[in-house]
Amino acid sequence: MNNWVRNAVGKINADAHRSADTHLFKLPLPRLEGIDIYLKDESTHPTGSLKHRLARSLFLYALCNGKIKEDTTIIEASSGSTAVSEAYFARMIGVPFIAVVPKSTARSKIRLIEFHGGQIHFVDAAPQMHDASEKLAHKIGGYFMDQFTYAERATDWRGNNNIAESVFTQMAREPHPIPSHLVMSAGTGGTSATLGRYIRYKGYDTELTVVDPENSVFYDSFISGDRSLVSKKSSRVEGIGRPKVEHSFQPGVIDHMLQVPDAASVATMLWLEGVIGRKAGPSTGTNLWGALSVAQAMLRENRQGSIVTLLCDSGDRYLDTYYNPEWVADCIGDCTTYTNSLHATYG
Ligand SMILES: Cc1ncc(COP(=O)(O)O)c(C=O)c1O
Repeated sequence: MNNWVRNAVGKINADAHRSADTHLFKLPLPRLEGIDIYLKDESTHPTGSLKHRLARSLFLYALCNGKIKEDTTIIEASSGSTAVSEAYFARMIGVPFIAVVPKSTARSKIRLIEFHGGQIHFVDAAPQMHDASEKLAHKIGGYFMDQFTYAERATDWRGNNNIAESVFTQMAREPHPIPSHLVMSAGTGGTSATLGRYIRYKGYDTELTVVDPENSVFYDSFISGDRSLVSKKSSRVEGIGRPKVEHSFQPGVIDHMLQVPDAASVATMLWLEGVIGRKAGPSTGTNLWGALSVAQAMLRENRQGSIVTLLCDSGDRYLDTYYNPEWVADCIGDCTTYTNSLHATYG
């Protein structure tokens, strides 16, 4: 075995070994009687999002498949978070990294990619990321990591402390230790694939609901079974929702899908800060709106239980956008109906 590859794998595994697990918050929502909602806080990874897990898995997968050598430039198509995490691992093993990102990507993420030593290659909009990355990789002889294809298979879905195993372990001492539902949004679909497979592998009585923002084709494709659907518009919830059905998206392990209005995602994200005292990103708003919708359905059916969803990244990355009322008014629209309904229902 090549010594450089052995060292690179060793460095990534040592980094994982030094890491602590991410916290599972229980939301204080007394009006949801008999139903507990939990948020797994993925913002506390060293690179600030759930994509830290994916980036680690993609690097190990590529290294162990002989795709990355000492002088390989890594290229990735990303709305930002994956690129931040991959830049961190690229620097750790000493290879150059180029992120192909839409020009709408939050400036703070661009700064973070550069902070970790990555270079930026802008494209006009999300649908162009894939082809631009392939072309760039071809031109410079680099390796296109391609999270939208490989996310679902790079992660060890049977365990190895993946996100699903971590959730079920952390739930062990709760009143309802086996969640009735896991709720997750999809960007690559990799996280939902891991959750859905793990539920089946362990035989848990847990249903997986995937939430989808406006302008994404995942929902329609799930309902119709048509994987060729495309949308001309880009998702306005950064990190999730795609204009085409990515290879990594695995509908077969999803029990339900739910469409969430973008204004509801933003209203929930802002409301959450008053509940747990910390800012989350907009995809967390989508997740939590979905979890609350599931909770309301359980209440109507007189069911008790627990629901787990993810806090995907911190709101500090979006202070100029989703936390800026003028930007929200221009780019998302009026959120007051959802804000009022959240306060009226949960306080
Ligand atoms: C902020 C954020 N939330 C959620 C997701 C969705 O995760 P996945 O790609 O595993 O579907 C992403 C993925 O890019 C993301 O960046």
